[in-house]
Amino acid sequence: MSAQRFGAGIWHFATYLDRYATDGYGAPRSVIEAIDLAGQVKDLSVVDINYPFFGGDFSNAQVKEALDRNKLGVIGITPEIYTREFVKGSFTNPDAGVRRRAHELVTEACDQVRYFGADYVKLWPGQDGWDYPFQVDYGTLWKHSLDGVGRLASENPDLKFVIEYKPREPRVRMSFGSVARTLLGIEKIGLPNVGILLDFGHAIMGGESAADSAQLAIDYGRLFGMDVNDNYRSWDDDLVAGSLHPIEIFEFFYVLRKNNWEGVWQLDQFPFREDSIATANHAIDFLKAAAKGLDALDVDALKEAQSRHDAISGLKIAQKALFGAM
Ligand SMILES: [Fe+2]
Repeated sequence: MSAQRFGAGIWHFATYLDRYATDGYGAPRSVIEAIDLAGQVKDLSVVDINYPFFGGDFSNAQVKEALDRNKLGVIGITPEIYTREFVKGSFTNPDAGVRRRAHELVTEACDQVRYFGADYVKLWPGQDGWDYPFQVDYGTLWKHSLDGVGRLASENPDLKFVIEYKPREPRVRMSFGSVARTLLGIEKIGLPNVGILLDFGHAIMGGESAADSAQLAIDYGRLFGMDVNDNYRSWDDDLVAGSLHPIEIFEFFYVLRKNNWEGVWQLDQFPFREDSIATANHAIDFLKAAAKGLDALDVDALKEAQSRHDAISGLKIAQKALFGAM
């Protein structure tokens, strides 16, 4: 297997606001400053960049220059289809004019993907959903979700689109809320260039086994990307990968390797109070240990145990491999 590559969402290196610290958890940073921080992380190869660029009016050339001096490539572009303009939804907004605006913004993001030579446009329709019973017509909402993504994918057949599903937040219920719903939608769209970006934390907060979700997406040929983090399962805490659920994340990586899935292992973490470089380094150290654990895993013995659904033997083999590699 070739050397595992690591990536991160550039927002990992930004500062954040919430409804309490409305003055922010740190001084605002521009995308350029965030790239310069990302460049200080050991073994980071690629970043996912929000579009429009945050923190100033930067040209593509300026962003490219910052990436080059930090030896970073771009894996994805994430159009911000979840900001104030889209609080009632992007693809599913009740106002056709706002739906059109979402389409335009993602179309601009497509050109960014081409400019930076990225792998995909990442769609995270965080505002597409509902909050209350009787608020929406579910059929219309789902149709708009699929029409919005499908139109973009058919207009840009040279590009890949990934949908990052998430059960909730900011919407209390999100339209692309689970692996099964998202796959169902993608199959209905029926185009080869739409897939899933599986966020480990989103899967487990939704009550999924992330390893099973990954296998399902792979079986349908739709696992185009992934990112990792950790949470307590009730919320998308975006804590450092491996901090809470090491054995489940190890199983997730095992499924990727078992299927020869060779994409980038990305971080989607939000270090509100931690040093962003130290947090990323710590996560990557854990991911490297997990990769070593996969090398050490007694796969034959594991398969034999699984053929009997022998939980304790399977767990013993996995724990020995992972914790022995730490
Ligand atoms: Fe997240």
